[in-house]
Amino acid sequence: MVTARRDLATCRDDFPALARTVGGRRLVFLDGPAGTQVPRAVIAAVGGYYETCNANTHGQFITSRESDAMLEATRDRLAAFLGAPSGREISLGANMTTLCFALAHALGREMSPGDEVVVTQLDHEANRGPWLGLAERGVVVREVALRRDGRLDPDDLCAKVGPRTRLLAIGLASNALGTVNDVPLARELTRAVGARLVLDAVHYAPHFALDVAALDPDFLLCSAYKFYGPHVGVLYARPGLLGRLRTDRLSTQEETAPYRIETGTLNHAAIAGVGAAVDYLASFGAGADLRARLVDAMTRIERHERSLAERYFGAVRRLPGVTVWGPDFSDRRRAPTVSITVDGRTAEDVARFLGERGIAVWDGHFYAARAIEVLGLAARGGVVRTGISMYSTDDDVDALLAALGELTGEAR
Ligand SMILES: Cc1ncc(COP(=O)(O)O)c(C=O)c1O
Repeated sequence: MVTARRDLATCRDDFPALARTVGGRRLVFLDGPAGTQVPRAVIAAVGGYYETCNANTHGQFITSRESDAMLEATRDRLAAFLGAPSGREISLGANMTTLCFALAHALGREMSPGDEVVVTQLDHEANRGPWLGLAERGVVVREVALRRDGRLDPDDLCAKVGPRTRLLAIGLASNALGTVNDVPLARELTRAVGARLVLDAVHYAPHFALDVAALDPDFLLCSAYKFYGPHVGVLYARPGLLGRLRTDRLSTQEETAPYRIETGTLNHAAIAGVGAAVDYLASFGAGADLRARLVDAMTRIERHERSLAERYFGAVRRLPGVTVWGPDFSDRRRAPTVSITVDGRTAEDVARFLGERGIAVWDGHFYAARAIEVLGLAARGGVVRTGISMYSTDDDVDALLAALGELTGEAR
């Protein structure tokens, strides 16, 4: 059944937080890469879970059975969101970082001293730290270089993946610079040497339709609070892989996928909200099934966000003393996340100036600390990051440009 799709321009009404004012001013939320706002449908699902079926799993009574059903239904929705065959490939956890550590512990047990793992200088620490820790087991960690233009060096990527490589951990999109990495190349290189490919899709998932069937990773991680849901981490594992891993688990815990890497009791109410977030996104797309609606919706979100981010990028780089970091929009795919520095000001100064005018942007390294260090920006407090989300508008971009114009002395 093809359902009517909602107009993206109406979405702001769904987010109660967007109505918030401070000192009579509308708050401008451009902080999405650190976590987006949440629509009413998600808030209702979280509250509704507590009101109607709060229970632990696998009991013989109705609220427990409903909890079981909700958990499986959320896995199925996330499978549609990622393009995975079924919910059996979807594990859930506290957040992406915790799941990535659990994965690294398990995969590390398959490695021997002298085996190599490749990470990148661009990635968030969540997709570096867990792999760097394998050095304790004698694993050699190699690092792909970041170029000044904010892109990973493809020659260095080719050089770093070799016959001893057991795993490459790489982000789909950079949360600091907006770069979308060449994952097809990463897959080709890892396949040639029989290495595993682990993708961090945390920054990519809110902005583009994801398709694990096309990307073909062994593992992919993302985090629902970046795509309008609550704080829940998500792990996709290629069919057949997780069930064989030596994960940290209790003897009483289920040993099959997707449960094998999940520890303790999950945050059921938040997971109810994740399912609602996927349904919410799908309501902006048309198509015969949930997957088709999600792909359509995410394609429209990508187009909307890109046009705003491209306009901001073009205008902000013309302000005196402003440097924009990261690739320009000539890349076919580029996340709508734009980072700048302003001559003579620390990133914190700039973010505070904007914050005082009701504009929420982040300053610092956002845990992409290695990238900020390599670009020589650590001493000035990193960069000022503007994140465009599905609910961002031309007015938001205008307010930001006006405030930055004021800061840099450019009358607008
Ligand atoms: C690109 C990227 N990877 C990983 C993470 C870590 O996600 P989580 O907070 O769910 O552990 C973040 C969080 O900001 C991120 O932006």
